[in-house]
Amino acid sequence: MIRHGVKKGDRVVIYMPMIPQTVYCMLACARIGAIHSLIFGGFASKELSVRIDHAKPKLIVTASFGVEPKRKVEYISLLEAALARVQSKPDKVLIYQRPNLGHVPLTKGRDLDWEEELAKAQCSKCVSVPSDHPLYILYTSGTTGLPKGVVRPTGGYAVMLNWTMSAVYGLKPGEVWWAASDLGWVVGHSYICYGPLLHGNTTVLYEGKPVGTPDAGAYFRVLAEHEVAAFFTSPTAIRAIRQQDPEAALGKQYSLKRFRMMFVAGEHCDVDTLEWSKRVFKVPVLDHWWQTESGSAITASCIGLGNSTTPPPGQAGKPVPGYNVMILDENKKPVKAKTLGNIVVKLPLPPGAFSGLWENQETFQKLYFQKFPGYYDTMDAGYMDEDGYLYVLSRADDVINVAGHRISAGAIEECILFHPAVADCAVVGQEDPLKGHVPFALCVLKQGIKTQESKILQEIVERVRTNIGPVAAFQKGMFVTQLPKTRSGKIPRSALSALVSGKPYKITPTIEDASVFKHIEELLKKN
Ligand code: COA
Ligand code: AMP
Repeated sequence: MIRHGVKKGDRVVIYMPMIPQTVYCMLACARIGAIHSLIFGGFASKELSVRIDHAKPKLIVTASFGVEPKRKVEYISLLEAALARVQSKPDKVLIYQRPNLGHVPLTKGRDLDWEEELAKAQCSKCVSVPSDHPLYILYTSGTTGLPKGVVRPTGGYAVMLNWTMSAVYGLKPGEVWWAASDLGWVVGHSYICYGPLLHGNTTVLYEGKPVGTPDAGAYFRVLAEHEVAAFFTSPTAIRAIRQQDPEAALGKQYSLKRFRMMFVAGEHCDVDTLEWSKRVFKVPVLDHWWQTESGSAITASCIGLGNSTTPPPGQAGKPVPGYNVMILDENKKPVKAKTLGNIVVKLPLPPGAFSGLWENQETFQKLYFQKFPGYYDTMDAGYMDEDGYLYVLSRADDVINVAGHRISAGAIEECILFHPAVADCAVVGQEDPLKGHVPFALCVLKQGIKTQESKILQEIVERVRTNIGPVAAFQKGMFVTQLPKTRSGKIPRSALSALVSGKPYKITPTIEDASVFKHIEELLKKN
């Protein structure tokens, strides 16, 4: 990197699969004070281009291929399509050619070959940075037209991660830890890369799925083969295993002799899934709640601090030291125990939490700190019981949690609206037995469109896949004559989401024409 002019403060975009080389790149950036920005491989070229244009990287590091169960991920063609759109082209693209998957040609003058560069590279000294120097930018979803690049300050993050490895996860240095996430998400940054390494734990890097690689026994095999002591996964992954192997029979052949704790996060964990995991993995399973913005758990059962390993069902832990979590009503007043409200954190935020949004401090202030002055607005809704356990129920913004991944409904809508036949659309989360929620689109067609609806839906699905990416798992939609809107023109997302999930829904008085809900309900019954 240094040879090609990357220095402290420069951005490096990393678009790579789950391989050790990705971690090397992250650590190399940290060593010289360059700011890395990882982009998850499941995002398509348009999303990639928006992030590249915003981060303005000097260098992009990528790999020839990624491996998904049914296909190879062709990073180079995705990157080329993204670069064709961007204004700020990087100086160089460093490419790691993965062995045994085929070779990709390099573009002369722009591309660098990983092996050749490594052969010429010399060890360089660590560069000192102030504690608030950005370690990374991690783009996330939420209600805003502009990309939301969460900025992570270096010093506080390192201290906080190191502390959580023992306080939250109860690990001793030397033990083996596995966070089954992707390096492209915040869990990957905090607990595949930095946290375990800072605390002296071996970290497992797994390029695979809970099922299909090759079967539903894969997680048990990895836990056994690497003698993992503690493991972090998502409820979706557990549901996937359970769906394919209801009694976890495939797991029984493995001895999990050092395995003692399991943690889940990323989405609400239903009690049934939690109880099943306890039964088949035979260890305590603890839910904990956090966000890309926080970088680590906001609420958890801190077992290293002596918290219970058998908290009540449905909760996501108690506030982690440093977080003063409160539930406020719409008038900004604290509510009584067990009353649903907005989950907020009284300022200041602890070390390790985000320090801003990259080149977007105005949105940072407006989005997170304006609605509830003196508090950080988590945009999650839920309640606390008398003992201080938090129950997280839903999002207050347009985020849909798909298989533990945060997807913006607004971004999907924007993409669908580019279809020439579509006049209006609303995308909401529909409950899904595997992924928790999947996006569901309600579309209004322009006057006089004669094309078959099924053909238009197919085109829309393809459009979302190529623009946002396969990770959005968008496949379902329906055509309606009108969308319900509030008087101020907003989509009543939670009511619509309940409606398309076949659940009772509440029509608020601000809805302009309540009969639209009935119309959609009838159409859904027919479909
Ligand atoms: N690079 C490229 N594409 C990716 C990708 C990546 N890193 N990750 C996912 N995708 C693609 C998949 O190939 C799939 O594409 P397809 O439509 O061509 O099949 C699409 O995105 C959806 O992927 P996924 O969400 O993995 O769904 P799936 O149906 O293939 O698998 C599960 C279902 C349950 C196995 C999977 O969702 C899963 O493992 N979930 C757990 C996720 C998790 O642990 N999240 C923790 C976040 S903290
Ligand atoms: P991300 O920023 O991608 O980590 O997503 C954060 C969001 O995921 C939160 O705001 C919640 O909506 C949801 N989430 C994460 N962990 C939990 C949990 N344990 N219970 C309920 N929702 C969760």
